[in-house]
Amino acid sequence: MPAMIGALLERAPRETRVSLVPEVTGKLIRAGTQVLMEHGAGVSAGFPEGAYQGVQWTDAAGVLAQTQVLLTVQPPALEQIRLLKSASVLIGFLQPYARREEVRALKEQGVTSFAMELVPRISRAQSMDALSSQAAIAGYKAVLIAANRLQKFLPMLTTAAGTIRPAQVLVIGAGVAGLQAIATAKRLGAVVEAYDVRSATREQVKSLGAKFVETGVSAEGSGGYARELTEEEKRKQQAVLDARVAAADAVITTASVPGRPAPKIVLRAAVERMRPGSVIVDAAAEQGGNCELTRTGETVTHQGVEVVGPVNLPAQLAHNASEMYARNLLNFLTPALKGGELAIDWNDEVFAQSCLTHAGEIRHEPTRKAVEG
Ligand code: NAI
Repeated sequence: MPAMIGALLERAPRETRVSLVPEVTGKLIRAGTQVLMEHGAGVSAGFPEGAYQGVQWTDAAGVLAQTQVLLTVQPPALEQIRLLKSASVLIGFLQPYARREEVRALKEQGVTSFAMELVPRISRAQSMDALSSQAAIAGYKAVLIAANRLQKFLPMLTTAAGTIRPAQVLVIGAGVAGLQAIATAKRLGAVVEAYDVRSATREQVKSLGAKFVETGVSAEGSGGYARELTEEEKRKQQAVLDARVAAADAVITTASVPGRPAPKIVLRAAVERMRPGSVIVDAAAEQGGNCELTRTGETVTHQGVEVVGPVNLPAQLAHNASEMYARNLLNFLTPALKGGELAIDWNDEVFAQSCLTHAGEIRHEPTRKAVEG
């Protein structure tokens, strides 16, 4: 039986992305599967129904009842999970740490679920790495928000009305989002400095033409991620960074430590040293924010400095974000499609490690402990 692959109209607030785009549904259909989508699913990302060739359309209940593999951006709502067929497969950003009720419901429903957040970051899985594809978008967009809010040009300008100095941009956290933020700010002509606790980022920052801020703190954790800093390290870092924050016109923060709230790096006192009219865009706002003054989903002004706490930045670039995400999903799913039929190889570490629930059990141990105690 050819697998029936489904996609829903995403209903989470501010979600504009769609899990399947025409290029990817075309490839799935050519691979021998069938595709069933909820009416209007792609519209907010700029993909009207007419753009999809060979896709069948129905309502949400129809998709949930008939699909063997449901592809989503956000976790489906609880009542939607309860309509999924037992032994069906769900793949998406399932937020295992935050959405415990949904994880429990997936287990009880007997759904095999894969969380895109859990895909191992190994070379072979780079084309499936949805965290990276979406983080790059967030970094890009954060700089554009800063550029829009600033009352200054980013580039240097030499005009008949005199010379305009370029804006100073500081990027804190030089992971996937931070590196894209640096590249974007450089392209717009700003003078860019960047900082990360992982010393491996020094060369990456420099290769993008930005200056690396040296604090003398190095905090490599496991798996290429950062670890949390000690109090002593935080003080050391703070002394250097506060001055760089004060000198910046725009600060873009993207720092994060897996499984922990975002580290507080830009403190109130540092914001108060910034020039009025300066802007902080806290791309870590959803994890609690890197700035002490950040309010998630809001913009606050403190002594003339705007602190922007954006939520779901990739959804603000829904067309390309959906294209990249849908390709990540296709690359994840393809090894499990044999002649259009679903056959998951559980010896494949990508499937084994990203599996959240299967056969009535929570397979991801940290999530199982969090949900079941
Ligand atoms: P992330 O979103 O967890 O963190 C963002 C950045 O914040 C990281 O670079 C981290 O070092 C930094 N950070 C944490 N605490 C900080 C602090 N107190 N001050 C300043 N910076 C701080 O990380 P992301 O962007 O998801 O990726 C991080 C790592 O994973 C990188 O080494 C990257 O190369 C690696 N990676 C590997 C992939 C692969 O091999 N397939 C794919 C994507 C990323």
